[in-house]
Amino acid sequence: MSEFKKVAGLTGMKDTLPPESASWETLEALVRDWLAGYGYQNMRTPVLEHTRLFTRGIGEVTDIVEKEMYSFVDSLNEDRLTMRPEFTAGIVRSAIEHNFLYDRPRRIYAMGPVFRHERPQRGRYRQFHQIDVEALGFPGPDVDAELIIMLARLWRLLGLADIRLELNSLGQAAERAAHRAALIEHLEKHVDVLDEEARRRMHTNPLRVLDTKNPAMQAMANSAPRLFDFLGAESLAHYQGLCARLDDAGITYTLNPRLVRGLDYYNLTVFEWVTDRLGAQGTVCGGGRYDGLIELLGGKAAPAVGFAIGMERLLDLWQQDGAAPTPAECQVYLVHQGEAGQRQAARLAEALRDAGLRALVHAGSTGFKSQFRRADASGAEAAVIIGGDELAAGAATVKWLRRDAADAAQQESVAFEQLAHHLKQRI
Ligand code: HAM
Repeated sequence: MSEFKKVAGLTGMKDTLPPESASWETLEALVRDWLAGYGYQNMRTPVLEHTRLFTRGIGEVTDIVEKEMYSFVDSLNEDRLTMRPEFTAGIVRSAIEHNFLYDRPRRIYAMGPVFRHERPQRGRYRQFHQIDVEALGFPGPDVDAELIIMLARLWRLLGLADIRLELNSLGQAAERAAHRAALIEHLEKHVDVLDEEARRRMHTNPLRVLDTKNPAMQAMANSAPRLFDFLGAESLAHYQGLCARLDDAGITYTLNPRLVRGLDYYNLTVFEWVTDRLGAQGTVCGGGRYDGLIELLGGKAAPAVGFAIGMERLLDLWQQDGAAPTPAECQVYLVHQGEAGQRQAARLAEALRDAGLRALVHAGSTGFKSQFRRADASGAEAAVIIGGDELAAGAATVKWLRRDAADAAQQESVAFEQLAHHLKQRI
């Protein structure tokens, strides 16, 4: 026994092992194809950024910045750094830094881990993964609609039903300011029902106060002035332009005037796709327009809109529908006897791979019986046997592992040089 005490992984940070990791890879490949279909290009930004990027970009008075960021001081140079809690701020920083969005608008996506120190539960982790999509330099509402139509296609591709779309418009700064003043007045009038957090936030982020889950505050929240009622003609036209395009595409949605999102950079369009099939964490995807963020982070003003999907939640849904395939380890499993048999099997396996088949050669020299057990457990379609008789005849024995009993009983003998072609025809 080792003296070393084993070290557990961190709370809320999952390991993904086979066969589940295969579902991830399948999903990632499908997502890349889906994004390519709309001309989105991949961007890779660092996991670590300066803390001030997120405090500035996401907003000081947000849950993420106030209590969920993994931040630390770099002991080597005193820099204050943060593990990205989302992609948008980093992508915008990078686009500004590389002068990437002024010559023409850009359709960008990123995929990977993000970090938030939340209380873990189903669908909520401290390291989770997002598919993040950003359309930089487009004023909309055509691109806003494109993003949503795109998402509806993804749900279709994955065979997911029961994901509904909630929409809202957060208007422009002046509209939000007028609403904010009315809202603060409302909150002050009902200060006796506000909990501690609400009182603390009522002057700094009154909109978030309405996002409360506290039952004692629901009546106050329901009677609060709605930002949507403060929208001027231009903002309304933007919203209606989006709705018209969603109608064209046959996409149903509901206006949720209480939808404000947890990040401060949004204006006009905001949306979430929600389901009841994930317990308390039912939001699969959230996004919206952030026309002010590029300028706020030091760039030349340019409009933008985007969204992020929580990949763990998406996979959970996909697995519930039984559609997340877990591919077998290999298609052909080669079993063998003796050193000459092993070496012939290794040569044949290379030929099978040349033909595009996934092949696994049993490693080590165990008996046939345990090799067959491994072959079966691998999920392979066929076992290829190379023993003394096969070497003498120059032909492998092929045993089909997944066919019905009568078929499976039939073994075939296939000349070594025919094997790859023969199997390729039948798998
Ligand atoms: P968000 O709403 O904070 O938006 O996160 C997007 C999605 O990430 C959520 O809808 C959810 O599916 C997933 N998610 C969030 N927190 C967790 C967690 N702790 N565990 C598992 N999944 C989680 C953003 O991040 C924005 N950057 C989206 C955006 C892009 N807006 C414009 N462009």
